[in-house]
Amino acid sequence: MGRAVVLGRADRGDQVLAVGSHPAKGDRLLAAAEATDLGDRVRFLAADLSTIKGTEKVLEYVAAEYETIDALVLAANRQSPKRIETSDGFESTFALYYLSRYLLGHGLMPTLVAGTRRSVIVNIAGVGLTSGRIHWDDLQLRDRYRTITAQLQAGRANDLLGVAMAAQYGQQVPYVLYHPGFTRSGDSAMEQINPLTRALIKTIARVAARPVEKAIMPVHDFIEAPPTQPLTAIDRGKPVPLDLKTLDPDAARRLADVTACLINDGSRPTT
Ligand SMILES: NC(=O)c1ccc[n+]([C@@H]2O[C@H](COP(=O)([O-])OP(=O)(O)OC[C@H]3O[C@@H](n4cnc5c(N)ncnc54)[C@H](OP(=O)(O)O)[C@@H]3O)[C@@H](O)[C@H]2O)c1
Repeated sequence: MGRAVVLGRADRGDQVLAVGSHPAKGDRLLAAAEATDLGDRVRFLAADLSTIKGTEKVLEYVAAEYETIDALVLAANRQSPKRIETSDGFESTFALYYLSRYLLGHGLMPTLVAGTRRSVIVNIAGVGLTSGRIHWDDLQLRDRYRTITAQLQAGRANDLLGVAMAAQYGQQVPYVLYHPGFTRSGDSAMEQINPLTRALIKTIARVAARPVEKAIMPVHDFIEAPPTQPLTAIDRGKPVPLDLKTLDPDAARRLADVTACLINDGSRPTT
């Protein structure tokens, strides 16, 4: 979906910076842009968003290269069947799917507010789902790691991230939580899944999943006409009531505080 947003934005005239961890995929993206005469509008930066250092590389690059940005679209995720700990000591799904989005949102805020045009953050995750939860006593899932547990926890953490960001910055930079639904998108989320399950998911996706272009259409709308309200939550085309239990402001404040401590105290996470 990220790739389609990048090419779609470039096609509409925007300058776009894409971030991913695989340089070869970046080269393919740039080749696709060149092939459609969009090469001068697309840049690719290779960075590992599952690490703080990799995410800071993006923040530094943007600060050096761009005076303003109009939109930040957050879409990086990867499923891991085994628990992996990043070099910072975080469980990798928590680090990539949630923490990088926290860091990018906060870190890019000065550049997002710098322009004259109203900017927007679009976080593509799973808002509207109520399954899964934040494991406050074991955020790094040391004792109960399962792929789905980690994915759902990070999804719910992104819900709360949207609430906290909207409360802090939403008057200036609206925050959109967007759940695209089952989409026939790339394979990187499934790279680690065993081949049999992957083949099964692909077969089901051919029948049941939405085409990428359809799933990302609302993202273009959010970028072209940023919402006026601080927080917007859309689950497969339908507005999510902002009083849904997964969007609880107290829990959002709690997670924001815990996350700030995890990042700022420089010590390895204990939760
Ligand atoms: N597809 C669905 O059915 C579906 C349904 C509901 C919600 N969603 C959510 O929608 C979002 C987009 O999903 P998608 O299907 O487009 O995912 P995808 O095709 O698997 O793409 C994920 C992207 O994340 C990047 N990425 C993975 N690890 C990275 C890392 N360590 N550092 C930097 N970039 C990294 C990948 O690029 P590299 O490989 O180059 O790193 C890839 O471009 C995700 O948050 C997903 O949870 C998807």
